Amino acid sequence: MRARASAPGKVILLGEHFVVKGKRALAIAISLRSVVDVEYAGSGGIVIESRGLNARATIDPGNLEASDSRFSIFSAVLKALRDMGYSIVPHRAKIHGDLPIGAGLGSSAATSAAYALAYTAMHGDPLAREDLNKASYMAEVVAHGRPSGIDNTVSVYGGFIIYRRGEGWRRLEGLSLPKGYYLMIVDTGIERPTREAVMRVLRRAERAGQAASLIYEAADSLVDLAVNALASGDMRLLGEVMDLNQGLLYAMGVSLGEIEEILFRARSLGALGAKITGAGLGGSVIVLASEDSLDRLASGFRGHRHWIASPSSEGARLEDY
Ligand code: PMV
Repeated sequence: MRARASAPGKVILLGEHFVVKGKRALAIAISLRSVVDVEYAGSGGIVIESRGLNARATIDPGNLEASDSRFSIFSAVLKALRDMGYSIVPHRAKIHGDLPIGAGLGSSAATSAAYALAYTAMHGDPLAREDLNKASYMAEVVAHGRPSGIDNTVSVYGGFIIYRRGEGWRRLEGLSLPKGYYLMIVDTGIERPTREAVMRVLRRAERAGQAASLIYEAADSLVDLAVNALASGDMRLLGEVMDLNQGLLYAMGVSLGEIEEILFRARSLGALGAKITGAGLGGSVIVLASEDSLDRLASGFRGHRHWIASPSSEGARLEDY
């Protein structure tokens, strides 16, 4: 008995931070995926092997605790599955795929969604999307404390997702980047302090009063502009919208000299637009680029980890094994 499943990572195209105070964010599932193989292990225990972490851990079948805290998302998934009525049997899971860990691309949500799907498929009873989203959310709570739920939703359903706190999410059907356009993701190499970034923005918003309200309104209306740009294939406009959103994030205090330097370089190498994705103060940036500037950008960012991605309409799915 064995099964393989995969799930995509995400980028926030627009609206990070502004989403914390009720504005909309637009997130996209990307073509980089976490892949999980699960195999029944007879009388053995539960062993999880992660290629990205270059480590393995065991999970105690009694209390479902992991021997290594970096593997706590797997315990959280198993606890959620047990609560949904699945029996937890000895198995070995291998995590691989091309989605990097720790780059702000939602690897914990993608991995937990793929793990939950592969494990339940091994039982012959693969979870439907709604329950898969619940199981992956439980793992996000363990990984991130108070997650908005956007990462697991994008990983499970794929595509373009608009999220608003309190209202939840809505999938936008039929959107994509036109042929020949890509998102390049560049890791600043600086670990992003999400909590500190969120606090900084909230404090500034408090002090700036009405001026901050206008900035938040502006950020929210950029989501409409971006959806129009995507629907009409106007990539020049989409790039401008990304730059505008970056200006607002800069205004709220979550950029850095190093980030601005990367964004400036990207634009001078032909990018149509470039911005922070996620919390800022480090982490990754996203760059909208056409095919003809990709080589130039790739050599311009030789010193940084970087990836080329496309939007993916495919959420979590079973794979041949
Ligand atoms: O860097 P990430 O992918 O963890 O994103 C953080 C997004 C914020 O809007 C800054 C915070 C949040 O909870 O929405």
